[in-house]
Parts: sequence; structure tokens; C-alpha cells
Amino acid sequence: MTATRRGFLGTAAAASYGRILGANDRVRLGLIGYGLIGAYHVETFKKHRDAQWAGVSDVYQPRLEAGLAACGAECKPYPDFRKMLDAKDIDAVVVATPDHWHALQSILACAAGKDVYVEKPMTLFVREGRWMVSAARRYKRIVQVGTQGRSGAHIPEVRSLFQSSHIGKIHSVHIGTARNIMPGFGSPANSDPPPGMNYNLWLGPAPERPYNPHRGLYHFRWFWDYSGGQMTNLGAHDLDFVYNFLDIKGPSTVYSAGGRFALSNDNGETPDTQDAILTYPGFTVSITIREACAGRRHGGGTEFFGTKGSMTVGRGGYQVYADTRIAPEKGIPPWSNPPGHPQPADIKPAPWTEARKAGGDAEPMELHSRNFLDCVKSRKLPNADVEQGHLISTACHLANISLRLGRMIRWDPAKEDILGDKEASSWLERPYRQPWDGILKGLKL
Ligand SMILES: NC(=O)c1ccc[n+]([C@@H]2O[C@H](COP(=O)([O-])OP(=O)(O)OC[C@H]3O[C@@H](n4cnc5c(N)ncnc54)[C@H](O)[C@@H]3O)[C@@H](O)[C@H]2O)c1
Repeated sequence: MTATRRGFLGTAAAASYGRILGANDRVRLGLIGYGLIGAYHVETFKKHRDAQWAGVSDVYQPRLEAGLAACGAECKPYPDFRKMLDAKDIDAVVVATPDHWHALQSILACAAGKDVYVEKPMTLFVREGRWMVSAARRYKRIVQVGTQGRSGAHIPEVRSLFQSSHIGKIHSVHIGTARNIMPGFGSPANSDPPPGMNYNLWLGPAPERPYNPHRGLYHFRWFWDYSGGQMTNLGAHDLDFVYNFLDIKGPSTVYSAGGRFALSNDNGETPDTQDAILTYPGFTVSITIREACAGRRHGGGTEFFGTKGSMTVGRGGYQVYADTRIAPEKGIPPWSNPPGHPQPADIKPAPWTEARKAGGDAEPMELHSRNFLDCVKSRKLPNADVEQGHLISTACHLANISLRLGRMIRWDPAKEDILGDKEASSWLERPYRQPWDGILKGLKL
């Protein structure tokens, strides 16, 4: 937490209730948000014999009931997650709420002595990330970010390929996602929240707005109040590989352009078309997001370009494409000499490196949750530690700040500040709606 804004105000929240867990102990889990991914988490953690669902929280009664039914007999309902954080029979929480809740719920959970598995993107704005790191370290909590690609079975092999410079020096990376969600989701009128929804607690720290069916379940993704659009939603997954394999802290410059060019008939705000270029020491990262045409790229993935070849890395596998070694003087395309003219010498291209691949498309969620449970017991840093989650989310947020301001920004990764642009710097933090701002200020971070 920045000393300037929040300082060490008030008293810390509850002391840790955490038990010292042995290797055979069950980790008692609480889920916050039984939505699209929350339901997956319930089933995934159930596969681990040393995990037990002890509580579920949701602000929407039908989902609370569905979550309770899915979690099993030993699970208790919590319409307000704060009561769950007070519960002594819960060791760790899974935060699967919309993005605008991730930081605050994680910080409060750390202060209450719970370990945290928090969904990606880890934050809604840059400053939240450092607050989360401070909370995790101060309260000695394990915080795993939900970029499950980090725990893929292929990751150690990919890491060793980078360590041995298998594809040479990396000079650029491309991340791209293209889908077609035309014609969008429409523009429903504002209305009362559905019966059973505590909309005030759904909004939490976000600005007060009239309820709209899109400002709620799932569709929150298209509104700046709750999300960074696909740049943070999908970008967080793909950029995660860049930070995992290349030793980096942050970009030096970020430029992004785009807009909601095609999906103009619905009430979403975030761009359907976005390009970003981020400069890191010795390489660039370009990010392409398309929501109104699937193009030839289906799905996502991260493509590393090296001086000997390229490598695509996804959540379930990787593939190396070897470039061919050709003496420069023999590299003249043969079709430049018409028949009857001297022909270039036979070219026998040899690859610079070995082409190889591993894995399929499987989602490594089970491995990621396993890693979380292991770290809850061993107290070792998890695969997707909060510090990394912060750096990755920051890069995504910087791209969105550049897009929204319409200019390139220069970033100082050591100071975690935007250089020479006070207006852009002011976008690094957003006010929390009361009482949440006061609740955050009451914590020692
Ligand atoms: N890791 C992945 O592959 C992956 C996949 C999908 C979604 N996600 C992430 O998971 C998060 C949730 O996405 P979703 O699609 O499941 O959304 P969703 O809208 O389907 O589910 C969110 C749930 O949280 C509940 N909720 C909101 N505020 C709450 C509060 N204060 N306390 C308790 N419950 C609350 C909502 O009622 C809803 O049931 C997003 O941040 C998203 O980026 C990650």
C-alpha cells in the first residue's frame, strides 16, 4: 500500500486463525463467487482428497444455493463473505468474483489469516497489486493467482528450453486472441436487480450505478467499472507465459490503440478491437485482441520469436518451429533466375534448432489447484505467486491506460510509476466506494 495514500491507519483485522497443516491434513476451503469459474473450482478441488469445501459465499441467492448443493453436506452458506472470513473452520478461500472484488477480498482474507487462490486478472487497477503483495507478505499468506497455465505439465520442459536458448535470443513475442461475438449482447434497459441479488454487495467498491442486466453476472467483463476488457481477461493468461519464462519486471514503453468499432449495438464499453505494443529490455510484446472476427487464429496462445526459431506456448502444451540455416549468399530466392539463366547452387537448408512439441489443449486447473494445496501445507511460494500476478496485471492495465488516453506511456518498473505524465499516473489508482475505502484504510499493509 502506498505510504502516501493509506499509511498505517487503524487496527489490523483479525489475527490468523490458520492451523499448522500437516501433510495428511485436509485444507478447509471457502468459495467466494459461485459463477462460471467458481463452479469449475468446486469440481476441480473436489478431485483432491485433502481438500474439503467448508463454505460458499455468493450475493445472488440462486447461485448460493446451487453452490451449496455442489459443495456438499459439510459446506455452510455465507450470503456475506465477511462472515466467511470470520469463520474459524476455514483455512483458505478461492476468490472467483468479478475483477473489481479480487484485490479487496484477497487482502481482507489475508488479514483474516486465510490463504488465497484468486482468479485472474488479479487486479482492476495497478496500485491494488502492490497492496495485495504487501498483505500476503505481512500476514504470511499463500496467494496463488488463477493463471492455471503456470502449472501445466509442459512448463518445466518449456523453461529448460528457454534456459538453453533453444530458439536463440528472443527478440519479440506475439499474443493474440480472435473471436467473433457479433452482434454482441444487446442493450437491455436498466431494471431492478433480479430477486435474490444483493446488488449493493455485488457492486462493493465499484461506483454506484443503476442495475442493468449486463452490469452483473458474466457480462461485467465489458464495463470499465469492473474489468479491463479482454486485455486483462485474456491478456492476463497469455502474458503470464512471458513473465514466467523471461526474467522481467515490466515494460519501459506501452502504446495501445483500438475501440469498440463493430459491437456498436450493445451497451458494453471495453474495446472489441485492440492492439498494443510493449517494449521490454531487448524485445517487444505485441498484443492483438479481436472480438468481432475470429480470423484465422482460433484460441489464444503466446508466440515467442527467437533467432533460431519460434515457439508457441499455451495452457496445455507447446510447439517449437525451427528456422532454417542458410548462408546469406545462398539465400537469394531461386525464382529470381528464369529458366535458361544460371541457377543458384543447390540449397540444402539445415534447421537452426530442433522442432519439437508436447501436450494438447488440456486445461491444467487440477495441477494448479494441487500446487495451491501443496503450498498451503509447505508454505512455499506457489507457481503463480501474487508478485507475478501484480506485474502481469500491471502490464495489461498500462495498455488500457494508453488506449484510453490515446498516447504512449513510459513506465518505470522500479518505481512503479508512469514517467512525465501526471494525468496518466492518476489512472494507476481508483477510489473505492464507501464503506470499502474505510475498511481498506483500517488494515495494516
Ligand atoms: N482462470 C480462468 O480460466 C477463468 C475463466 C473464467 C473466469 N475467470 C475469472 O473469474 C472471475 C469470475 O468470472 P465468472 O465468469 O465466473 O463470473 P460470474 O459473473 O459468472 O460469477 C461471479 C460470481 O460472483 C458473485 N459475486 C459477486 N460479488 C460477490 C461478493 N461480493 N461476494 C460473493 N459473491 C459475489 C456473483 O453473484 C457471481 O455468482 C473473473 O475475474 C474472470 O476473469 C477465470
